[in-house]
Amino acid sequence: MRILFLADIVGRTGRQAVAKVLPEWRERYAPDIILANGENAAGGKGITPEVMHDLMELGIACFTTGNHIWDKKEIYPVLESDPRIVRPANYSPLAPGRGYTIVPVLDKQLAVISLAGRVFMEHADCPFRKFDEIYATLDTPFVFVDFHGEATSEKACFAYYVDGRASAVVGTHTHVQTADERILPKGTAFITDAGMCGALHSSIGMELEPSIQRFLTGMPTKSDVAKGPAVVCAVLIDLDRTTGKALGIQRLQKRLSE
Ligand SMILES: [Fe+2]
Ligand SMILES: [Fe+2]
Repeated sequence: MRILFLADIVGRTGRQAVAKVLPEWRERYAPDIILANGENAAGGKGITPEVMHDLMELGIACFTTGNHIWDKKEIYPVLESDPRIVRPANYSPLAPGRGYTIVPVLDKQLAVISLAGRVFMEHADCPFRKFDEIYATLDTPFVFVDFHGEATSEKACFAYYVDGRASAVVGTHTHVQTADERILPKGTAFITDAGMCGALHSSIGMELEPSIQRFLTGMPTKSDVAKGPAVVCAVLIDLDRTTGKALGIQRLQKRLSE
């Protein structure tokens, strides 16, 4: 089973870049399923139903998200009704949406789980124990986890904690692709961060000037999605069709001139 996972898609710049690159990647890599992190897809903050459906037209079957999931209220009812988008499973059970979903791939079932880290981040229950809880209910060896976190240590510890249970643990949230993809000893594919799909010359996909001002002044500023040349980051993961263990993980990154 071959999974193509697109890192956090940031705003229109990211969506347009994905639209350009995806047809070529679909042909070259022939993924059985395409997943993406959509938490920044609408204006860099959150995702709307329209944006989600536009991205699905490109072939993305299911979306994970992260801390920006609550930024666009229009998505709340969709989180409840549509199993093709998940929000971090370790957020409050009183908040809308589901934390994992089961997606049919080939003749198998792929569990897609969204979890958020707790180091330098807010309001989440323990992602380690939440994984245990979900894993105990699963009836499939094909388990994909998007671990949305800031700290590299937390992501690595989580990945080794679930090694042999999750098929893949892909980190998101920092928007910077790490060069540490590997298969862990018990068969879990892991990368600390998949990166992002968004503007290259930016502060994690957002305009530089207001972001720099924020650092200079310590005051809040409003920043929009950055434009210009884009980068599309993803990982390609191959799983054994019987055991669900990882056979390979490959980092993809394509830069577009504009
Ligand atoms: Fe993000
Ligand atoms: Fe995030």
